[in-house]
Order: sequence, then structure tokens, then C-alpha cells
Amino acid sequence: MEKELKNINFTVIENGIQIPITTRHGSYPNLMYLLKEELQLESFGECGGVGRCATCVVKTSGITGNSAVKDRNEPATLSKLGFNEANIRLSCQIYITADLNGAEIKILEI
Ligand code: FES
Repeated sequence: MEKELKNINFTVIENGIQIPITTRHGSYPNLMYLLKEELQLESFGECGGVGRCATCVVKTSGITGNSAVKDRNEPATLSKLGFNEANIRLSCQIYITADLNGAEIKILEI
């Protein structure tokens, strides 16, 4: 429980600009919602987080734990677009947890 109350700090890169993010465990349903709200990204996350639209693709580094593993619809959706690299992710499939501490999240335009 105490671990969940600590700040989670990571960096987002959008159009070459580094944006520091400080948040808390579970502050948003997933990373897609955080990015959409905090960066006011319009056509981002169009399927609402189901893992099918691929409008929430990010390139990651430094994510740890279970959050570093693709799950559910994510591998199939990314594979259809030719993204098979482990660090290309659907941000809607990544929860806001301490696994994001120190990570770098780059928003990809596809
Ligand atoms: S919001 Fe549609 S795949 Fe992530």
C-alpha cells in the first residue's frame, strides 16, 4: 500500500520535446488516458483502450515488471502494423504503476 502512494515519475517525448510527468498509481485507467489528457492529444486512443485501433502507439524504454510484457490484444494489433519490437507498445495496455518510474515514453505518429 505504501508503495502505491509514492509519486511515479517518467518522461514523455512528443515531437522531440521532453515532458516530465509526475503522477500516482492508478491516477488514470491506463497510460493512453494519461497521455490523452495531460498532453491534450486529439485523435489518440480512438477505441477507448480496447487494444484494437492502434492510435495510441508509443516507443518505450525503461518500463519494468509486468508492465514490460505485451498482453491481451496488444501483440496481434501491433503485428498487423508491422511492429514486432518489444519496445513498441499500445499505451492503452500499460497501467499507471511504479513500473513506469524512470521510463521514457515516445509518442509515435503512425
Ligand atoms: S486506444 Fe485503441 S489500441 Fe489503444
